[in-house]
Amino acid sequence: PPVTSSRKLVLLGESAVGKSSLVLQFVKGQFDDYRESTIGAAFLTQTVPIESGNFVKFEIWDTAGQERYKSLAPMYYRSAHAAVVVYDITSAASLVKARSWIAELQRQADPSIVVCLAGNKLDLAEAGQRQVSTAEAQKFADDEGLMFSEVSAKTAQGVEAMFKQIAERMPID
Ligand code: GTP
Ligand code: MG
Repeated sequence: PPVTSSRKLVLLGESAVGKSSLVLQFVKGQFDDYRESTIGAAFLTQTVPIESGNFVKFEIWDTAGQERYKSLAPMYYRSAHAAVVVYDITSAASLVKARSWIAELQRQADPSIVVCLAGNKLDLAEAGQRQVSTAEAQKFADDEGLMFSEVSAKTAQGVEAMFKQIAERMPID
């Protein structure tokens, strides 16, 4: 019979890159143009089928990106099986912040954690607002051994595929 394995996933990244929006799109298929900035962290779950016929139940911690909450992050990533480090493709500064989160995970998280670099707001590329090229982010991800996706929480492009790819990488018990 199919097995469902619970796996803890944490989202990290600068404020306003769209972490909560990605989770809302993944879990509820919804998008809001006006989201309140997260206070502390939010918890949601979503179960996804994997190729083997089994299921991964993601226990998702959507952390707050504002600097004043920075010290809380280790509580959420310490026991995580997966981390999605989000930047906004229209903000070069947000990629700098993503790099620093990845360095922190490499120092402090479980060495077996699966990390995905996610470039959000892909819908704004068409409006000429892109500041981070796909090639630059892909090269960084390759150099660091990370998964990489460009996504849009607004249009849903790439969102489910990203979480499914992460689910396929989760060890099943
Ligand atoms: P904190 O909770 O402060 O860390 O921010 P966050 O990373 O959770 O960002 P949030 O999801 O609250 O989104 C910030 C703003 O970006 C909101 O106004 C969203 O509507 C907008 N936004 C999020 N994702 C997208 C996207 O894919 N495309 C566009 N165009 N806007 C987006
Ligand atoms: Mg948020």
